[in-house]
Amino acid sequence: MSGLFITFEGGDGAGKTTILNQISDWLEESGYEVLKTREPGGIHIAESIREIILNKEHTTMDARTEALLYAAARRQHLVEKVLPALNKGQVVLCDRFVDSSLAYQGYARGLGIDEVYQINQFAIEGCMPDITLFFDIPPEEGLKRIAANDKREKNRLDLEKVDFHERVYEAYQMLIRKYSERIHPINANQEASKVYEEAKEVLHPFLLKKE
Ligand code: TMP
Repeated sequence: MSGLFITFEGGDGAGKTTILNQISDWLEESGYEVLKTREPGGIHIAESIREIILNKEHTTMDARTEALLYAAARRQHLVEKVLPALNKGQVVLCDRFVDSSLAYQGYARGLGIDEVYQINQFAIEGCMPDITLFFDIPPEEGLKRIAANDKREKNRLDLEKVDFHERVYEAYQMLIRKYSERIHPINANQEASKVYEEAKEVLHPFLLKKE
């Protein structure tokens, strides 16, 4: 695997998707071949699974079913899109990956971070990101941004109560401590241009290593 696998993580409304797009433009202008993608989704089968998971009518979905569906979508997306791009030497920018499952299903849903890690190992066979950027914003601020954005369709998880999003945030803090070499926190509670500059600064040394 000769490419670089970069994942973007954070609570809902952290603004990571905007920065991902800007980072993609910057890398392309700098001559890298970039693949932009997202989870759950990114390819036809996984987008279909996304619709099932996030459908607001699916209020009876069991937490383990939810965790397994995310892992299934992840598996298909990895083998069909991410690994081929990495094998071609591309830089893959992925909006969410396994850390989202550890935070949302493992901790916020209460399934256990280790348990959710196990089922995900079956799906990813040890393929972890090279770098993860965590967009750090207090959960109430993220939720305010979602509420203020009329264009954004509110999904089943956006509709969870504040304490769910607080648990997601707490889980990410634990993951940052556990995977301190891989996960880099970025202050997302500031102007978008500053968030972008901070993200670039973190990525720079890794890109130099790749050259
Ligand atoms: P998005 O809004 O960033 O596209 O993500 C969709 C929702 O799915 C978001 O609320 C986070 C959630 N999610 C999980 O709960 N577990 C996962 O493994 C992933 C990838 C996303």
